[in-house]
Amino acid sequence: MAIFTRACSLLVFAMVLRAGSGQNVDPIGPDDGGRRRREMVPAMFIFGDSLIDNGNNNNLASLAKANYFPYGIDFNGGPTGRFSNGCTMVDEIAELLGLPLIPPYSEAYGDAVLHGINYASAAAGILDITGRNFVGRIPFNQQIWNFQNTLDEMRDNVGARDVGRAIGKSIFFVGMGSNDYLNNYLMFNYPTRLQYNAQQYADLLVQQYTQQLKTLYNLGARKFILGGLGEMGCIPSILARSPAGLCSEEINKLVLPFNENIKSMMNKFNANLTGARFIYIDIARMFRDILANSQAYGFSIVDRGCCGIGRNRGQVTCLPLETPCLNREQYIFWDAFHPTEAVNILMGRKAFNGNTSIVYPMNIEQLANLELEFD
Ligand SMILES: *[C@@H]1O[C@H](CO)[C@@H](O)[C@H](O)[C@H]1NC(C)=O
Ligand SMILES: *[C@@H]1O[C@H](CO)[C@@H](O)[C@H](O)[C@H]1NC(C)=O
Repeated sequence: MAIFTRACSLLVFAMVLRAGSGQNVDPIGPDDGGRRRREMVPAMFIFGDSLIDNGNNNNLASLAKANYFPYGIDFNGGPTGRFSNGCTMVDEIAELLGLPLIPPYSEAYGDAVLHGINYASAAAGILDITGRNFVGRIPFNQQIWNFQNTLDEMRDNVGARDVGRAIGKSIFFVGMGSNDYLNNYLMFNYPTRLQYNAQQYADLLVQQYTQQLKTLYNLGARKFILGGLGEMGCIPSILARSPAGLCSEEINKLVLPFNENIKSMMNKFNANLTGARFIYIDIARMFRDILANSQAYGFSIVDRGCCGIGRNRGQVTCLPLETPCLNREQYIFWDAFHPTEAVNILMGRKAFNGNTSIVYPMNIEQLANLELEFD
């Protein structure tokens, strides 16, 4: 059965070979015949937005959905609710950790939850009010409550002590904030832009973020991965607003204080939260590297969505049954807002075993192998 349950790593292998660089090749190698590698951690719990949502909005009354063709065109099994042609970055990270595909909270029952759950929801933000234009979405606060539910169920089934130990060894991936800008601060019908300057808004967000992450810590989480914000001024949706199709330096600058604040929050956590370890993935830096060296990575189309309509194929995002581009592996962007599977895989691998220029103070592989103290 299941010869090709996963294909994320196979694709990137082809890409690395094509790029001819030979650098960053994972010594472990891809799946063979659907057999997984050794599990490095018991589970991964995932919190975030549409960059990593894998189906939690499918049954919500929401305008933020991707459970229709051509989303998932390169995913085994077709559309799932992932905002990508194939895998997301956390799919790749789960695979590298030796875990199976992590199910969405909305579909996680029975044994399927044993390796973790994905609570991410498209249009969700750190602030509850973020993403309201899309109606249904699960804000970070609610995602944390959902995790609490999972914990209660697991304790009933397995016993509190075993659950506590497993949670402490598990990976908590948290990638929030994009929508607090795109679907709040930059949205015409929100007042935040008038109330806060860039620094004040970043302070507000990270104050709230700090409390939310502390709640996860108090629930037993110890190994945290925080994803920073990418170069949001360079996504097709923003490019399409400029007659020359240029990145918005204004928007790239707007989110800088947020990333800086996350880094100092992380440093404080690492100094002050006993037994916990946080790492930061510099998504913006990875993105700049991919844009600057696109040819070497095998990308030839860097400024337009593979699926979408209008200028930069970014004015209207990918619609149901729309025909996407054929050469998807040569595109950086899948739709107006989201990268292709090829980019997701590349970034997942760099975050997994890259050096401190993009993930620090250590990479995911090192975090997974870390022995933390428990009481
Ligand atoms: C750790 O917490 C203490 C007390 O809350 C605070 O004074 C100190 O500045 C914190 N350390 C760091 C590195 O943030
Ligand atoms: C990280 O790796 C890149 C190439 O992959 C290299 O250019 C850079 O100097 C390295 N940085 C550090 C801090 O080791």
